[in-house]
Amino acid sequence: MALRHLMSPLDMTIEETDELLDLANDIENNREKYAHICDGKILATLFFEPSTRTRLSFEAAMMNLGGKVLGFHSADSSSTTKGETVSDTMRIVSCYSDICAMRHPKEGAPLVASMKSLVPVINAGDGGHQHPTQTLTDMLTIRSLKGRLDHLKIGLCGDLKFGRTVHSLIESLSRYEGISFVLISPEELRVPGYVRDAMAAKNIPFEEVEKLDENTMAGLDILYMTRVQKERFFNEEDYVRMKDFYILDKEKMSLAPESMLILHPLPRVNEIAVEVDNDPRAAYFQQVQYGVYVRMALIMTLLGLEVK
Ligand code: CP
Repeated sequence: MALRHLMSPLDMTIEETDELLDLANDIENNREKYAHICDGKILATLFFEPSTRTRLSFEAAMMNLGGKVLGFHSADSSSTTKGETVSDTMRIVSCYSDICAMRHPKEGAPLVASMKSLVPVINAGDGGHQHPTQTLTDMLTIRSLKGRLDHLKIGLCGDLKFGRTVHSLIESLSRYEGISFVLISPEELRVPGYVRDAMAAKNIPFEEVEKLDENTMAGLDILYMTRVQKERFFNEEDYVRMKDFYILDKEKMSLAPESMLILHPLPRVNEIAVEVDNDPRAAYFQQVQYGVYVRMALIMTLLGLEVK
């Protein structure tokens, strides 16, 4: 089987993505069937930047499949501190593992690593660029809870400039029919030009607004909230000015459509009040669970493993 990596959600065709999501749903419903498919396999998690969900869900995914995990959770605990390049690190880790998930603060670092790797490399988030496995998680959540990935009106709210999950999700959903976006952000945190240009080139209807109010939320199927990405700001003052720009609370939710699901890649800071967690439309903790199933399906797919 040819070596295959995942750098962007667009590395998979729509058909491959749908198959992966089908497999994730089957895993969800038949956990035992998949419990030993990765016996003897090792996943390396190379995280040069902090993570709770992505790293631990990858590790849980491999363990659920019967495999083992190794890795590091910060650049400080690797030989990067001695000056080793990401390519050399990856070449070395290829000798210890069968598949690797890498997070790095620099855009494109997992791609560079994949060029020297002997095993599949998964981009687990590269700077403010892409986060393909979060997008697969989001898509599985939407498809499972809404029953479709087409004909949806999706609001994306918060830091649309640095929020890599937003960029990946827009690119992916833009491939489905009848998708439109409402992009809700302060002027300084609008989506990057390349994301806007890609939507325009495909004639995807989208509007950019600043307020999160009743008018903005009208007709939305999904409201995808994001935190302001503190770690990508050049100065603290700008971050402090922006960080509480949006707060989704009970009062705001009383103005939202009854069928509108709230998603969030997490972690949250202040942008969703804790009082919203019990609202039946709050789907962000279910989303976390779907992240494990989709990563199990991805590991199996990239390793070319099938349950007979
Ligand atoms: N959603 C997400 O990427 O979370 P972590 O940063 O905790 O991995």
